[in-house]
Amino acid sequence: MQPDVEMTEIERLMWDVYEHVRNNGGRVYEGGASVQEAQYLQEVVQRTHARRIAEVGFNVGFSSIAFLESSPDVTVVSFELDRRHAVDLAKQYVDERYPGRHELVIGTSLKTLPAYEAGQFDLVFVDGGHEYEVAAADIRNAARIAKPNGLVIVDDLVPWYPWGIGPTQAWEEAVGDGLIDPIESFVDGQPVEFIAEPGDRAWALGRFR
Ligand SMILES: C[S@@+](CC[C@H](N)C(=O)[O-])C[C@H]1O[C@@H](n2cnc3c(N)ncnc32)[C@H](O)[C@@H]1O
Repeated sequence: MQPDVEMTEIERLMWDVYEHVRNNGGRVYEGGASVQEAQYLQEVVQRTHARRIAEVGFNVGFSSIAFLESSPDVTVVSFELDRRHAVDLAKQYVDERYPGRHELVIGTSLKTLPAYEAGQFDLVFVDGGHEYEVAAADIRNAARIAKPNGLVIVDDLVPWYPWGIGPTQAWEEAVGDGLIDPIESFVDGQPVEFIAEPGDRAWALGRFR
């Protein structure tokens, strides 16, 4: 991501938090939502009026910022593995810009999601551990913390890349098992009937049954 005179507001904020983290000694070594995906996350929140949102995987907060920018009524709970310096710095940035609207729950989602109060969230964004076992558990546990018929977005459905194999298998099984009704899928920001290469980013939205 490079600064650019034509930047949209969300792109500017993503660049800003990234700079905040880097300039204060944080090392960013995990990926995050692309600008296109962040714009999609905002659009979904505006379209569905989701207000209480959970995400698995905070990293430096790109997706949290997208959600929180969507509406002043949105609150976000992020489940993140560890409190590394970059995570702390991004949390500080988010708290300064959106006071009282963001909660960070530290620890493996394999334990923190099952321990969280059930039936709370309008939308859960699954973008944490990409191993099949973790992604599959996150989807199952997301169904528990979501409200009845809540929405779910699963990221990185790119099985042609190593990091996309686990999430794709987990998503396909959840759909096959009837846990999720698929609604729409995207490759590099474009709606598609079926996710297929080529493409660098792919995700899908569904609704828990
Ligand atoms: C792809 S990044 C998340 C990016 C973020 N959603 C965004 O768009 O900016 C994945 C994150 O999941 C975290 N993670 C990996 N395994 C996890 C686990 N078992 N529980 C919670 N978080 C996990 C990683 O530390 C990393 O920060």
